[in-house]
Amino acid sequence: MQNSEFKTPFFMIDENKLIENLKIAQHLKDISGAKLVLALKCFSTWGVFDIIKPYLDGTTSSGPFEVKLGYETFGKETHAYSVGYSKEDVEAVSTYCDKLIFNSQSQLQAYRHLVKEGTSIGLRLNPGVSHASQDLADPARQFSRLGVHQEQLLSESFNCIDGAMFHMNCENKDAGSFSQLLEQISENFGEYLNQLKWVSLGGGIFFTWPGYDIQTLGKSLRDFAKRHGVQVYLEPGEAIITETTDLVVTVVDIVENGMRTAIVDSATEAHRLDTLIYNEPASVLEASNDGEHQYVIGSCSCLAGDQFCIARFDKPLEIGQRLHIQDSAGYTMVKLNWFNGLRMPSIYCRRSNGEVRKLNEFGYQDFKDALSRWRV
Ligand SMILES: Cc1ncc(COP(=O)(O)O)c(C=O)c1O
Repeated sequence: MQNSEFKTPFFMIDENKLIENLKIAQHLKDISGAKLVLALKCFSTWGVFDIIKPYLDGTTSSGPFEVKLGYETFGKETHAYSVGYSKEDVEAVSTYCDKLIFNSQSQLQAYRHLVKEGTSIGLRLNPGVSHASQDLADPARQFSRLGVHQEQLLSESFNCIDGAMFHMNCENKDAGSFSQLLEQISENFGEYLNQLKWVSLGGGIFFTWPGYDIQTLGKSLRDFAKRHGVQVYLEPGEAIITETTDLVVTVVDIVENGMRTAIVDSATEAHRLDTLIYNEPASVLEASNDGEHQYVIGSCSCLAGDQFCIARFDKPLEIGQRLHIQDSAGYTMVKLNWFNGLRMPSIYCRRSNGEVRKLNEFGYQDFKDALSRWRV
């Protein structure tokens, strides 16, 4: 079946592209000895987990539902970490996870006795250094609540944990800068890490980016593991699903108010939220850098500044034409919302053999149920 037969908007996940990323992940595991767990906060469309499972070691999750989903639909290792757990959360999460990572020493002390036997306990540490281009996404930003800062660490905490987690990167494409961060961690936390069994170095490492120096990354991870006698984990999200998925939309109108604007049947605010949050324009498959015809690709939500990007095209756009918003898998499907009562994109996967499988579709009842199930 051709994409043109499906009603827009929809996401199309491409299995071949996913496998290309997964093979790089496998290579990284082979050269580094690190284990890789998929960060479900980035991508948790479990309908394609059978494709991912053979390559990765498990999942890492935040809230209780995500943890349960990882356990049920992916299996292998299930890690749980949240910035703040309630007592009920710890009890719920503890049923499913084999590693539970607390964000603070107060949570560790309050809840460690609730963690079921056999589950390995960890603590998130904040290294105070990071690689992130935007302050909003910088785990080491001023007054960061993410993890225990070095000056607050109590040596007693290490009596009741097996592992530690550092997450300090966001889309880091530079293996050299990551290696430097690791050296700083070894220098500042080494005496503690030597007492542990495992260390997770979080996500945000863009090892599937074209030209990424994976040998340097692999060596740094291997050296770090050896230096401290620990099993190293990474928690990739975006690196696994980058460039695998298009959000396919249709132009429903074209208006001209100083700039020509093509309005499409989707909105960043509802279907591609990070475009808006991080002010990072999307890219459109059909666009061409030196095209004569420039358009704002505008959303159909009511928010004045809601647009996908400004793009140029060789030919004028037409109402009814489809556009492919590229690289739309990470932090999109996990953040879908019903703003303006827009049609929710369906989700499909194009398998390696060309067959297209439907993973989800949504209707009016889903919208209605999300708002209320009962009247007052
Ligand atoms: C603790 C932790 N691990 C892993 C990730 C995944 O990061 P990415 O999708 O950039 O690889 C995040 C993202 O925020 C995170 O906060």
